[in-house]
Amino acid sequence: MDNFSYWNPVRTAFGKGSVSQLPNLLPREAKIMIVYGGGSIKKNGVYNQVVSALKGRQFSEFGGIGPNPLYETCIEAVNKVREEKVNFLLAVGGGSVIDAVKFIAAASPFKGEPWSILSEPGIMLNSAIPFGCVLTLPATGSEMNANSVISRASTMEKLHFSSPLVYPRFSVMDPEFTFSLPPRQVANGIIDTFVHVMEQYMTIVNNAPLQDRQAEAVINTLIEEAPRVVAEPKNYDVRANLMWAASNGLNGLLACGQKEDWATHMIGHELTAFYGIDHARSLAVILPALWRYKRKDKHDKLIQYARRIFAIQSDNEERAIDEAINRTEDFFNSLDVSTHLADYGINASEAASKIRDRFDQRSVAFGENADIDGAAAYEIIMTCA
Ligand code: NZQ
Ligand code: ZN
Repeated sequence: MDNFSYWNPVRTAFGKGSVSQLPNLLPREAKIMIVYGGGSIKKNGVYNQVVSALKGRQFSEFGGIGPNPLYETCIEAVNKVREEKVNFLLAVGGGSVIDAVKFIAAASPFKGEPWSILSEPGIMLNSAIPFGCVLTLPATGSEMNANSVISRASTMEKLHFSSPLVYPRFSVMDPEFTFSLPPRQVANGIIDTFVHVMEQYMTIVNNAPLQDRQAEAVINTLIEEAPRVVAEPKNYDVRANLMWAASNGLNGLLACGQKEDWATHMIGHELTAFYGIDHARSLAVILPALWRYKRKDKHDKLIQYARRIFAIQSDNEERAIDEAINRTEDFFNSLDVSTHLADYGINASEAASKIRDRFDQRSVAFGENADIDGAAAYEIIMTCA
């Protein structure tokens, strides 16, 4: 097991009716700005519940954060925060709204060009406006982590930043708020969570049996609950299990002492930046292809995964790995999510060239061995047609 430092300060108020805890969670004299997306919270009643809980508080609103939140929109929000001297933000929505709020929180007091928060990895942030979340879509784990991913329309880039200053102060998680999710977003959330776990698991066997089993517990929960949420979308317990699984998928715990990969995400972000494909769908395409490409390096962990998750007992290890990867694809397909670029109208060789060139320009390489560079990404994407 590798050395690690773990700290997660996010207070979580989980369960039916927990929005009623908002008055106690919000600082007394705060000047609050509620930030939300394209309007789903107005249709499903979440907005009304939040506003009722804010009775007697000073607050304004900023709506219109889209999926894959745009830098350009966030800057409008930053201007509003500065003008109104807002000192507490409340994100009400999915990962896009929460990520946008993290960026707005960091950019509002930032003295330089805000884009550098994203484009200059490791840049020093001195402060951020505190914020809380009301989660409506279990997927990204953003409600319990310190990461944010922002897209810039003008340059077709999608970049991330991370800072302990942007941990949410609290996250309200009411599984009933997810009853209104369309099937496409439910599937996306399950797959995004699945791939987060795998980015922290599918590397080497690193003498971390507790963390391995914690990761496998999240995966088993997803596999069990996925068909149930499709069959019974109003089942509270199923929604609760999916919501807590998503938070646990990326709140830092599974990565403790482990090697991490994240190459699937880095390639996936480029597919979204160039072609607008949903985040989770980009991952469903890349993950199986990346495993096939890296099957030698990941051999021992792929075998562990095959045996423990799918109970594949074959003595022929190569066959067991093939079957485990195929069953992973079957799981994504069972959620009506394709693992082929052609099904999203994307030409594999064009995408492979564009992403190779971008990785080369930035001189980056990802994965647990830092060897998924432009050339490797090209090879992987070429098998995803
Ligand atoms: O905008 P509204 O109207 O709210 O609609 C949203 C949006 O259209 C809708 N929705 C959300 N909750 C709903 C609902 N519709 C009905 N009922 C509800 N309860 O769902 C659509 C998608 O929402 P979005 O927030 O974009 O989805 P998600 O949570 O999957 O977030 C994706 C973003 O998070 C980033 C992704 O790259 C992407 O930009 N990620 C963030 C991470 C992090 N911060 O750690 C890690 C991830 O790997 C990921 O990269
Ligand atoms: Zn993700």
